Amino acid sequence: TEDRLALPVGTTLERYIMRKQTEFPYATGELSQLLRDIALAGKIVNREVNRAGLSRITGAMGEQNVQGEAQQRLDVEANIRFIRALTNGGECCAILSEEDEDIVQTGNHQGKYVVAIDPLDGSSNIDVNISIGTIFAIYRRVSRTGGPARAEDFLQGGRAQVAAGYILYGSSTMLVYTTGHGVTGFTYEHSLGEFFLSHPDIKIPAQGNIFSCNEGNWLDYPEYVRGFLTTCKERRLTGRYVGSLVADYHRNLFTGGIYLYPATTAKPAGKLRLLYECYPLAMLIEQAGGVAVTGRTAVLDVPPTKNLHQRVPFFVGSAELVHELQAAAE
Ligand code: AHG
Ligand code: MN
Ligand code: MN
Ligand code: MN
Repeated sequence: TEDRLALPVGTTLERYIMRKQTEFPYATGELSQLLRDIALAGKIVNREVNRAGLSRITGAMGEQNVQGEAQQRLDVEANIRFIRALTNGGECCAILSEEDEDIVQTGNHQGKYVVAIDPLDGSSNIDVNISIGTIFAIYRRVSRTGGPARAEDFLQGGRAQVAAGYILYGSSTMLVYTTGHGVTGFTYEHSLGEFFLSHPDIKIPAQGNIFSCNEGNWLDYPEYVRGFLTTCKERRLTGRYVGSLVADYHRNLFTGGIYLYPATTAKPAGKLRLLYECYPLAMLIEQAGGVAVTGRTAVLDVPPTKNLHQRVPFFVGSAELVHELQAAAE
């Protein structure tokens, strides 16, 4: 039977969101507006990314964020842009950002949603003109105080996400998101300033030929991870690692493969952050038919701790490869 919701490639994001809103009873107007706000901020950040080399927006800020990472100018700029767009949009009452230790209140206490965001992913690649991204997760607010949002609004667990997505600022810029009914990809046409539907119903191949990890950490990887990677090499899989999570994830989503950021000696909980990196990418991969685990456990089933910037080991990608790794996990 023909999917009555199928829209042709080339539909604008705006029209797509409008159609979904009227055709899916669950999709509220507020969530649609929130997605528009994120797309708008994405366009602005895309502009900054494209001219970063000219506008002196590269380089370090000289500040550290709560993770102890040296903030880049574009980390800070992107954070400002997303917070501003989400504040002006009015649907979001609070934001959890990688770049801010505490929850950022937008002042829209009536806003029904909260957003966890990695405004600029792939910091180390900004200055060298390599693909970077943005990752976001959206929850319905649960605290009923009428006042500011609380930590509990962000600590509902991965299965409570109502939408999740990323923007890839790559050789073309794409917005990929899910509201829990499959994964849809849009490509940005900059002369028109619009995102257009380009990849309806994205599915990751069940098997893949690529493994992606920072092999510089090899000596610090758990034994089972080294064992798994050795079998990848014995089977002559291909190694691909950009060092921007969004870019590595996006490639593997289309080609099939596995991305690994295990615990290391220096980072016993891994490097990637649960709330604004791993949960949203895990929701997307499950919607695309793939798998995301921290070892034995599905990422979406990891209970959040009180630490908003909690890290977890992260293995994500094609079902067969990730299941193989999961079976070997301690
Ligand atoms: P961010 O730039 O948002 O801080 O994220 C950092 C991440 C991620 O993009 C990437 O996959 C990973 O760090 C790379 O880490 P290594 O340099 O340790 O490989
Ligand atoms: Mn960072
Ligand atoms: Mn990141
Ligand atoms: Mn970041």
